[in-house]
Amino acid sequence: MTELIFATHNENKVKEVIPLLTGDFFILSLSQLGLNEDIPEPYNTIYENAIEKARVIYEKTGKNCFAEDTGLEVHALGGEPGVRSARYAGEAHDFEANIDKLLGKMEGQTDRRARFLTIICLILDGERFIFDGICPGTITFSRRGEKGFGYDSVFVPDGSLKTFAEMDLEEKNLFSHRRKATEKLITFLNKRDK
Ligand code: IMP
Repeated sequence: MTELIFATHNENKVKEVIPLLTGDFFILSLSQLGLNEDIPEPYNTIYENAIEKARVIYEKTGKNCFAEDTGLEVHALGGEPGVRSARYAGEAHDFEANIDKLLGKMEGQTDRRARFLTIICLILDGERFIFDGICPGTITFSRRGEKGFGYDSVFVPDGSLKTFAEMDLEEKNLFSHRRKATEKLITFLNKRDK
């Protein structure tokens, strides 16, 4: 049995990742451990922030853990909002304001290409491992759907006509960046257990 902390306060991420963790795992969330303070995201890349989140939690708890950081990268905006996805419209981390800003910047833009990038950092017995997941797609002209979170209502993954917010969790996981990165993590852990 591998006991791991999933170093996130985002319950939406927990909901997406937990059903994917097939194997002999026992996953603890930060709230179960009574760790409620914010984890800093001080760096300019998604990669460095994922590492930092895992490092902070590993140092605090001494337990094996993984963290993930995700960003939406829009081609016509030179990769924005990227590492600033959560704070695009300001420090309030307001999903609706972030989407309004994104749709505003994309007004009149015909190149709607975008992608989600997830980086997972695992720290296992002090050793660090990195896994990534990419989901290419396009930005819609307006919001569609009520499910999901973050930018889900304005992102259509390649291979579908629906936004992520029009999909239930299982359907989102057919396409999702987070599922792809999580699968790499699981494959790694299952191999290592043998
Ligand atoms: P973080 O990884 O929690 O820093 O997320 C960065 C930003 O991207 C936040 O505004 C999230 O709401 C958003 N985000 C992260 N993952 C997803 C996703 O799967 N769909 C839509 N938005 C997401």
